Amino acid sequence: MYSIRTAEYCTRMKSLSLGFLGCGNIGGGVYRLLHEMEETLLQRDQLSLRVAKILVKNVDEALAINASKGLDVPRTLLTEHAEDVTQDPSIDIVCEFMGGEQPAARFMEDALRHGKHVVTANKVALALNWSALQRAAEENHVGLWFEASVGGVIPIIRVLNINLESDRIDRIFGIINGTTNYILTRMAQEGKDYNEVLADAQRLGLAEPNPATDVEGMDAAYKLSILASLAFHGRVTYSNVYREGITGIKAQDIAFGQEMGYTLKLLGIAKKQGSTVETRVHPTFLPKDHPLARVDGSLNAIFVHGMYCQDMMLQGRGAGDMPTASAICGDIVEAALCEKPHYPTFANTEMPSPDFAFTDNWITRAYIRLSAVDAPGVLSRVSECFAKEQVSIASMLQKEDTKEGRVPLIFITHPAHEQAIQRAIAHLDPSICVLEQMIRVEE
Ligand SMILES: NC(=O)c1ccc[n+]([C@@H]2O[C@H](COP(=O)([O-])OP(=O)(O)OC[C@H]3O[C@@H](n4cnc5c(N)ncnc54)[C@H](OP(=O)(O)O)[C@@H]3O)[C@@H](O)[C@H]2O)c1
Repeated sequence: MYSIRTAEYCTRMKSLSLGFLGCGNIGGGVYRLLHEMEETLLQRDQLSLRVAKILVKNVDEALAINASKGLDVPRTLLTEHAEDVTQDPSIDIVCEFMGGEQPAARFMEDALRHGKHVVTANKVALALNWSALQRAAEENHVGLWFEASVGGVIPIIRVLNINLESDRIDRIFGIINGTTNYILTRMAQEGKDYNEVLADAQRLGLAEPNPATDVEGMDAAYKLSILASLAFHGRVTYSNVYREGITGIKAQDIAFGQEMGYTLKLLGIAKKQGSTVETRVHPTFLPKDHPLARVDGSLNAIFVHGMYCQDMMLQGRGAGDMPTASAICGDIVEAALCEKPHYPTFANTEMPSPDFAFTDNWITRAYIRLSAVDAPGVLSRVSECFAKEQVSIASMLQKEDTKEGRVPLIFITHPAHEQAIQRAIAHLDPSICVLEQMIRVEE
């Protein structure tokens, strides 16, 4: 009995070699998880995965850093030459964990052109080079896997690419940047200012020393371009995404919003109606009872609406070495076991899909805070500016908080076209009121 099972086991066994490009937080996490899963993969999938080469910038420094993290990577695996990974004929799957657009994208393309499957968590390199990478994958009959590039461990790429492929998604939006969600959550809970919470997040390693990519919304925009392309079956490029970050958010606006029943989140929002597509990343007030409003701290969550699936939401850890490693190892195992790679459905070109009419005149509600002269008649002159553009006011918050003869005037509009709201703001007479804040509101 034992020998028959062993014989079967040996004939079905698949042994593959992996090459890593970079080995920082995520690479280290994947290395650990593969080691931990070794026996299980052998037993369950008859799969043996061996890390054969790892590209680092400097071998001696990498050895010292790995040792300090308790990561036992033999010196013989390390190389300072990318071709040792991307062009080695014995390597089957290349896993890219370097980050940044270049040289990561170039190395991935080289690996694909040398007939290797590629797994990456790199949204920047993917969002900006997706068409070239996919073309290289298709021409060489290999796969490109990128589940961890959006939402960390949340399996949204697979859901859009495979599970919902036959649905008609008309809306996908969510919290796709953990750093900004952490900052906004703490500002809301503790009433602290942006700079104070950002400094704390940097101390805790939750924000980069240079936080621009996260707090200016670039990270979320890269991710949204990937999600929208998959959801709408057509290429939405990074430059199609309107973007505003959270650096101008004041604790008082979060507090006023809370008084009016709203919670502030940095959302990536993509909508499609007919051929009209809007994609935007900006701070957004959501009603307190919206499922996304309750997603706090560094968690991510993505809300999808489709004609047939209706509403659904996925929530989970958007970052962190082991949650991300879990998603990446799922990709690695899929790459290892797949007979025929699955490619996205659409013509993936450098240019935005010609089937889409992109608009920046979306319909939204707006939270508006003005600093207004404390005098009779000011309110009606403000309302006239909005009425002139057919923008009606839904609710108002009055504060008797006079400073130097001025009071805050806070209101939320009914849904209106973005450009009508902007024109109404432009009509305001600066001698009686100035705009201090405008934040879009979703339902
Ligand atoms: N961290 C997360 O929670 C998370 C979540 C989802 C996705 N991701 C994505 O995963 C990727 C890796 O992130 P990470 O957090 O692991 O970053 P990381 O800790 O900075 O690791 C990147 C590693 O790659 C090395 N590297 C960079 N350029 C290289 C080059 N040209 N040659 C050789 N090595 C090079 C870096 O070396 P140096 O340190 O010497 O520069 C570093 O060791 C990124 O694309 C990121 O967006 C991260």
